[in-house]
Amino acid sequence: PSEMGWLPMFMHFYQGFWYTTRQLSAILPVQHHFKALDSDIVLVSTPKSGTTWLKAILFALLNRSYCYSNIKGDHPLLQKNPHELVPFLEFLHMLDTNPDLSSFTSPRLLATHIPFGSLPESMKDSECKIVYLCRNPKDTYVSLWQFTNKLLPKETGTTSPLEETFDKFCRGVSVYGPFWDHVLGYYNASLEMPHKVFFLTYEEMKEKPIEQLKRLADFLGCPFSEDEEEVDGGVDEILRLCSFDNLSKLEVNQNGKLSTGHENKSFFRKGEVGDWVSYLTPDMIERIDRITEEKFHGSGLKL
Ligand code: A3P
Repeated sequence: PSEMGWLPMFMHFYQGFWYTTRQLSAILPVQHHFKALDSDIVLVSTPKSGTTWLKAILFALLNRSYCYSNIKGDHPLLQKNPHELVPFLEFLHMLDTNPDLSSFTSPRLLATHIPFGSLPESMKDSECKIVYLCRNPKDTYVSLWQFTNKLLPKETGTTSPLEETFDKFCRGVSVYGPFWDHVLGYYNASLEMPHKVFFLTYEEMKEKPIEQLKRLADFLGCPFSEDEEEVDGGVDEILRLCSFDNLSKLEVNQNGKLSTGHENKSFFRKGEVGDWVSYLTPDMIERIDRITEEKFHGSGLKL
């Protein structure tokens, strides 16, 4: 068993998904203790799909009045990493199995990587809203491998070879994997409950950020009025504030650290679509594309 936090040295299979010891020990109290409120907004994502970006965007979107006066000054996103402003439920319940969340202002903005089938009952039963983010499996995998290899050498003096972890990823053995089952769970839920689950991809957000931000605002019941779009705190400004270029260069994200021990800069690498071409061999591409096609066959979903 690994004592090294989330690092995938020893994995557990629970309710159809793979976790490290530490992740699983956080998920169980979330399932037992977290009581969702009707007003909650929960960002769910697969690891390395751009969670940091969406956390920033949702925070800015829901704190627009703050943006109007502060975006050029002391906006929280200029002072803190998005993971500090929008905590993971797993992390909160890791610190304290039944944490006191009463200091959160309404609507509470929280995040998790927990698969749909394993969500706490209160999240399904309440009116809380879920924004789901995923990314194409090839970029997700490369980003995950890069992230893991940044931490592994420091803690173990070794790195994990791309070929080895790629094989595991394809077999579903990755943190919160199988990746495809995670995505399908939320995709199907978004079709069944479009008022509750908003399904979004990193690629859609990259390609049409203005359109997606407006869709998000509509879904969360805080639409932009036409005259609000280009003003301070409007669509353009939120996207600029949360851009990779802006966030990754901030002092807090260059030199800060989270209480989990992660360096803030480890959440900002390239921030592009298609970086996988530099890492995957033709055989790997053929294998992962085939799995994606087989898994998503008949679902109407393409990544
Ligand atoms: P890459 O490793 O491909 O660069 P997560 O936040 O879920 O851990 O995902 C991290 C990925 O999102 C990394 O991808 C990171 O560079 C990218 N990312 C972080 N902030 C971003 C931003 N503001 N805009 C676009 N991508 C961002």
